[in-house]
Amino acid sequence: MFRTLYSRLAAVLMGVFVAVGGLMIVATQTMLERDRLLVLATDLVIGAVAFSLLAALVVFHFLTRRLRTLAEAVDAFRTSGFAQPVRIDEPGAAGDEIDRLACAFAEISERIVDQLDALAKVDAHRRELLANVSHDLRTPLASMQGYLETLLLQEDKLTQDERRSYLLIAARHCERLGLLVRDLFDLTRLEAHEIRARPEAFSIAELAQDVAQKFELRAAHARQQLVTDIDAATPAIVADIGMIERVLENLIENAMRYTPPGGTVALGVGPDPGGVIVTVSDTGQGIAAEELASIFDRYYRIDRGERGDTGNAGLGLAITRRIVELHGGTIAVESGAGSGTRFVVTLPLGRAAQ
Ligand SMILES: Nc1ncnc2c1ncn2[C@@H]1O[C@H](COP(=O)(O)OP(=O)(O)OP(=O)(O)O)[C@@H](O)[C@H]1O
Ligand SMILES: [Mg+2]
Repeated sequence: MFRTLYSRLAAVLMGVFVAVGGLMIVATQTMLERDRLLVLATDLVIGAVAFSLLAALVVFHFLTRRLRTLAEAVDAFRTSGFAQPVRIDEPGAAGDEIDRLACAFAEISERIVDQLDALAKVDAHRRELLANVSHDLRTPLASMQGYLETLLLQEDKLTQDERRSYLLIAARHCERLGLLVRDLFDLTRLEAHEIRARPEAFSIAELAQDVAQKFELRAAHARQQLVTDIDAATPAIVADIGMIERVLENLIENAMRYTPPGGTVALGVGPDPGGVIVTVSDTGQGIAAEELASIFDRYYRIDRGERGDTGNAGLGLAITRRIVELHGGTIAVESGAGSGTRFVVTLPLGRAAQ
């Protein structure tokens, strides 16, 4: 009933009014009976003032008690370095203004703690990214520099074949560096939502066929079988063709990279209730269950005890997932250690797209 401070104050004042009124009635009665007007009036004024003071003190104490508690909580929050949010036990929405103030402050303090946490995470992430980037760039750069310096210093002593082979190695490292910088740049822009898809209608069945063709030679070199199962009834989709090509390339590249010679890599494309479905499966080494959740994280590479630098940044799947999500699709993986891997991508038709 007395939820607001105002109503509580009004109730107390009403009490004072009733008490003073009662006293006045009694005093008037006595005054009429006996003729002690002055004494009674003085008693009445003193009584009324004392009563009002007492009532004011009670109200004041009642008000400041909770304000004091709130002030202590705010101080504690500040001295904790904004790390511990303020905890409020009292009922929130049903309480008076001070309760609501306390609840609002508890909420604000929680938000501050969350935001500071998020900022700290972003900062740690940025530092880790910087460390990874500089490491990844250093390795091919150092190799390139090494080969080029050898070429310069020993130009006369090297045979034509040796010179050509050194130049080829330097060019390969240069290419790798270029791809790495491209991946890093694209992932950063995808994560910052700076890249927008440029949708156009195209046949994903034809695109998959073209991509598979591009990898045929490499599969033959690696003594792997690259098979396709492309349903001609697959509908056309509206999407960014360059980005979807990148998705297919990343998945096939991974499948080939992590499948030993003699293995098979299969690319399937077909219609799906929500649009189209693309599968890339292999008979390779597979991914252990505990690693599955992390492979889409940027810079996540499974440590399989390979010696030296494998030359992969661990960005491919992070980029792939971002692209698929940008198109409103999903990507999932099924695998187990030693039992091959299957990536399943679904993409919407995207007519009302992006
Ligand atoms: N088909 C696959 N079979 C087995 N492991 C895989 C497969 N695809 C991905 N992985 C594992 O997931 C990790 C992350 O893959 P991702 O494509 O993001 O990075 P990467 O291939 O190592 O490097 P990048 O693609 O940047 O050159 C890989 O290091 C690999 O261990
Ligand atoms: Mg990859």
